[in-house]
Amino acid sequence: MYGLEQLGTDLLAWFDEHQIVLPWRGMGDPYAIWVSEIMLQQTQVKTVIPYFERWMTLFPSLKALAAAPQDAVMKAWEGLGYYSRARHLLAAAQIVVEHYEGQIPRHWTALRRLPGVGDYTAGAILSMAYDQRVPAVDGNALRVFSRLALIREDVSRSLGKRLITSVIQDAMGHISRPGDFNQAVMDLGRDVCVPQRPNCGVCPVRQHCRAHAAGEERLLPVKPGTRPPRDLVLAAALVEREGRFLLVKRRSVGIWGGMWSLPTVELPSLLVTDSETCQTAAAREWGLAGWPFQLGAAVVTLKHQLTHRSLTIPVFEAVLPGMPPAGFEFSWVGPDEWSSVPLPVPFARLLDRLDAGPLFRQAAHDGCVRPFRLL
Ligand code: ADE
Repeated sequence: MYGLEQLGTDLLAWFDEHQIVLPWRGMGDPYAIWVSEIMLQQTQVKTVIPYFERWMTLFPSLKALAAAPQDAVMKAWEGLGYYSRARHLLAAAQIVVEHYEGQIPRHWTALRRLPGVGDYTAGAILSMAYDQRVPAVDGNALRVFSRLALIREDVSRSLGKRLITSVIQDAMGHISRPGDFNQAVMDLGRDVCVPQRPNCGVCPVRQHCRAHAAGEERLLPVKPGTRPPRDLVLAAALVEREGRFLLVKRRSVGIWGGMWSLPTVELPSLLVTDSETCQTAAAREWGLAGWPFQLGAAVVTLKHQLTHRSLTIPVFEAVLPGMPPAGFEFSWVGPDEWSSVPLPVPFARLLDRLDAGPLFRQAAHDGCVRPFRLL
């Protein structure tokens, strides 16, 4: 049996000495903790820091966020990915203002009911903002504790998660700073108890680690084979009128929900072998979706990697006779405006190129856009 009490003490002593300075640490502001925890999901600390700082200038309080227009919120999130996080954060802030007098709930059940708040985030907020002994079980915690307690259950399944959560709960029962404890586990998982080659030589809790004693640390945590990203082909239409481009607001479901982009349509990826087949397929799919585009040549093919999707985006020059179909929020946006519109990264890059390229300006005057390279 490993000494749970000593484990907590050793971990906190290590945290006190090694913790990195992060802008949300020590602020004691539940809203700041919440924002940072949502940003930190699936995103590295160094990526989050500038976003967090900008966010807190733009929306310094929960009330300020709740009152902000959705486009401003999405713009502040642009480039961070997983955009549903931003939509949920805004929706949750509005609920907290309306139903909880602007105070982030202190109770698990109420917190969990807010959009975007899962078990991990609820645990992080309750422990860091309100000093409650609640585990925040993310991938780091699963890895660290599957090793410490030698848990060989599959951590992607509920049994494995439950076992680990209960070990963490037991360990937390012995310490006085639950927020720091959870953050120490995160830091340890990120910097020492890493997935491939854990640095056991510098681990402050090595003497408590049953996997280390058994020589099994590299075999844990047990996870099923992760699935490779799925290919997704989206055709995009570049429609220009008097130097402005047609942008549409994306539906809230699906990738980049709530952001703005060129009009896109999904193509069956097996069908896409060359640019002509792609053009025919795109014209048909758009026709079915109510967009009567006349498609010209593919001007560029964008490639973009998301965690679960490998995207290929052939961009077609297009003419739209008449208006977009009913039900779409759309806008004609010029170079002076598109930097203030929340755009997914590949489209933001494309528009920047268009803006910068004399080739494009000349081409636009000719009424056609000449092919340019893959971005
Ligand atoms: N990852 C998620 N939350 C974190 C936090 N509060 N500190 C460090 N890394 C984190």
